[in-house]
Amino acid sequence: MVDRPAVSDKIAIMTSGGDAAGMNPAVKSAVDHCRRMGAQPYLVEWGLRGMIEGWIKPATEESMYGIIHKGGTALGSSRSKRFFKLEFRKQAYENLEKLGISKLIVIGGDGSFGALHQFHCDFGVPFSGIPATIDNDIAGTDYCLGVDTALNMIRSSVDSIRDTASSFSRAFVVETMGRDCGYLAMTSALATGAEVCLVPEIPYDLDSIGERLRAERDAGKKYLLGIVAEGTGMGESLTRWMNDALDMDARLTVLGHVQRGGSPTVYDRIMAFKFGVAAVENLLAGETNKVVTFKDGAIYSRCIGEIAEVKHHCASDLINSCRHLSL
Ligand code: F6P
Repeated sequence: MVDRPAVSDKIAIMTSGGDAAGMNPAVKSAVDHCRRMGAQPYLVEWGLRGMIEGWIKPATEESMYGIIHKGGTALGSSRSKRFFKLEFRKQAYENLEKLGISKLIVIGGDGSFGALHQFHCDFGVPFSGIPATIDNDIAGTDYCLGVDTALNMIRSSVDSIRDTASSFSRAFVVETMGRDCGYLAMTSALATGAEVCLVPEIPYDLDSIGERLRAERDAGKKYLLGIVAEGTGMGESLTRWMNDALDMDARLTVLGHVQRGGSPTVYDRIMAFKFGVAAVENLLAGETNKVVTFKDGAIYSRCIGEIAEVKHHCASDLINSCRHLSL
């Protein structure tokens, strides 16, 4: 990294939308890098709601103590509907203006980036985005903070379920989060050796799954694991189907918000460090409306248009690796 002359920018950092492990190390990384570069870091509490309410304060050394290993977001988050209204965005702008804050870093998903893009159109405040959502469904980036921690949570839960499934010779269906994206379900199905995986990205055929599973049972398989993405809405019906069509005692486990918690993994902390540094660098280089992304092993910055206006697709090799689990 090159030495830069001190700058006097005041940069406010916030977390927004669904919390994700990795948000805390990303806040710390951005704060630390602001200080290294001579900029003044500020913290917005409770995301967009905090901008409207004026819950903004200078980042102190103390506020960064003991957060790097914590899940969730120490700053708090929100999904603010009021921010859609110009009058509340104006209030948020006045709060920033009062403190002399001229730049923003938002750690969150594409909805939060879109909100700050609108804010930039209204008032000209540049922002830099850091992708963070367990869903891993943001266009233009292979990775979003929180995904590795969520996958490890799911892996550990499914490993435990396997213990009880094998003890009773039962079928278990596990529903993962991810909204309309099957990334968590597909990756977990491969990592846990599940027999079935239903995701929005892959058409499924219960008749052919039934034939395959009956043959596997005849060959000696004693229990079954199915992973279902919440976006399919198939958790309950797959469980009922396993019970009725396969004549197996079947149970459903909806993992829910447990997937969002937990101490960030080493991978999430390192990615958070890199994303935090890159977000600050973007703003100090005079960039506006850029989102930090990770593509083919390298960090890039992309314009908000390439993120917000492009539909996300899971990598085709992941989808292809899971097709046999839907047939
Ligand atoms: O976007 C993250 C996510 O956890 C999704 O996977 C899930 O559908 C949603 O948020 C749950 O939202 P909430 O926390 O508001 O219930």
